[in-house]
Amino acid sequence: MSDLSALFDRPDAPQTPAYVYDLDELDRSYAALRAALPGSAELFYSLKANPHPEVVAGLVAAGCRAEICSPGELRVALAAGADPAGMLYTGPGKRDADLAEAVRAEVGLFSVDSPYGLDQLDRVARTHGTGVRALVRINDDTPAPGQGLTMTGVTSQFGADVRWMLDRPELFGPRPHVRIAGFHLYMGSNVDGEDALIAQFTQSVETVRRLAAASGTYPELIDLGGGFGAPFARAGARPDLPKLADRLTTLLADAFPGWPREGPRVAFESGRYLAGTCGTLVTRVLDVKRSQGATVVVLESGIHHLGGMSGLRRLPPIVPDLVTVDAAAGPPQPGTVVTGPLCTPLDTWARAAVLPRVRPGDLVAVPNVGAYGLYASLVAFLAHPMPVEVTVRGDRIIAMTRLELTRHTVIGSDRG
Ligand SMILES: Cc1ncc(COP(=O)(O)O)c(C=O)c1O
Repeated sequence: MSDLSALFDRPDAPQTPAYVYDLDELDRSYAALRAALPGSAELFYSLKANPHPEVVAGLVAAGCRAEICSPGELRVALAAGADPAGMLYTGPGKRDADLAEAVRAEVGLFSVDSPYGLDQLDRVARTHGTGVRALVRINDDTPAPGQGLTMTGVTSQFGADVRWMLDRPELFGPRPHVRIAGFHLYMGSNVDGEDALIAQFTQSVETVRRLAAASGTYPELIDLGGGFGAPFARAGARPDLPKLADRLTTLLADAFPGWPREGPRVAFESGRYLAGTCGTLVTRVLDVKRSQGATVVVLESGIHHLGGMSGLRRLPPIVPDLVTVDAAAGPPQPGTVVTGPLCTPLDTWARAAVLPRVRPGDLVAVPNVGAYGLYASLVAFLAHPMPVEVTVRGDRIIAMTRLELTRHTVIGSDRG
C-alpha cells in the first residue's frame, strides 16, 4: 500500500471517508491465487465481493472470468471488458427480465439451482432464439468443516440436494435450449487453511463422481467454488497456500484418470482472497468524549460504510482494527467505544477497542476491506455521502470516484 499519510497530506488528497484500493496489491493477490491452483484451472472473480469498475477491470485484465449474479454486476463486468461468453451467471432466484438481459448480452454459462430454474432458463433462451449452457448447482449432503459461512449440507436456497438429483436425474437433464455443461459447488466462504480447503474439494469431487456415475455422463466443466479465506477488517496478510496446487492436481488426477489432458475442465471462484487485501477504509475522527467512564470515539464511518451485513450473519461480526494514519496520535487507550455517526446505537464497531489516543480531525484506517466492505454495507441508511473510492498504484492516484445514491429517478407519476 502506498503511504497513506502521504496520500492524505498532498494538495490533491482524497476527501474522507475514502476507500483506497491498491491495484498493485490486487495484482499480487491474483498472482498468489493463480499460483495456488493447477495451471489448467479456470478462475472466476466473484463481483459480489467488490464490483468497483477498476477492481473488476484489473482482475479481468489479469485473467479472471466474471462470476456475476445481478444485472448491475453484468453491466460492470461488460464495461470492464469481460468476455460474456466466459461469464458465469449465478444466484438461487433469477427474474425473467434479468436472465433475458444476460442472454441478450450473450452470457455463456448459468448456474441453476432447481428443475424450475432449468425450465425458466430454457424458456428465456427459446424466446431469444438461442441456446445456453448450464451448470447444475449441488447442495451437498454434509457441510464441509472449517467454514466461515456454511452454504451447503443444510436446508438451503442454494443448489439441488444430492439425494434429489440421484433419485430423479431426469429432472436435471438438458432442455431443448439448455445444454448441461456440468456441476457447480460452493461449500462456504472464508475457509481457513489448505487442509480445510482440500477437505471440501475432496468431498465435492467425490459428490461429482457419484452424480456422474449415476447419470452415466461425465461433466465437461466442474466449478468447485472456493471460499479461499483472507483477513477482513483486521491487520494481517493474505494466507499463503504453498501446497494447494499440487494437492489439487493429485486429487483431480486420482478422480479423473488422464486429468488435466482428459476429463473435465475445472474452475474455481474467489472474491475475498482476490480483492480483500487491496482495500483500506480511511476515515476521520469526528468527536471524542467521555461517557459513563469510557472513552467514546465517533467516526465519519460506521455500519453504512463497513460491516452492515455482519448483523445479518452474512459475515462474522466485525471489530475492525483501527490504525492511525496521522503521526500525531497518542498512546493506546484500552476500553474505547468506537462508533459511527448514524442515529442508532447499532452503529457501533467496537465496545472495548484498544485505540491510540485520537482527537477530532485525526485520520484512522481499517485495513483489508477490499472485499465485502463498501458494497456489503447499509449505504442508503440516513443518506450520508458515500465514501470516495480511490484507486492507487504506488503513490500515483489512478482515479477517484463517488457513487451517488440520493438521486431518485422518476419511473412513474400521476401528477400530470
Ligand atoms: C456461489 C458463490 N461464489 C463465490 C462467492 C465468493 O466467495 P468469497 O468472496 O469468499 O471468495 C460466494 C460468496 O458467498 C458465492 O456464494
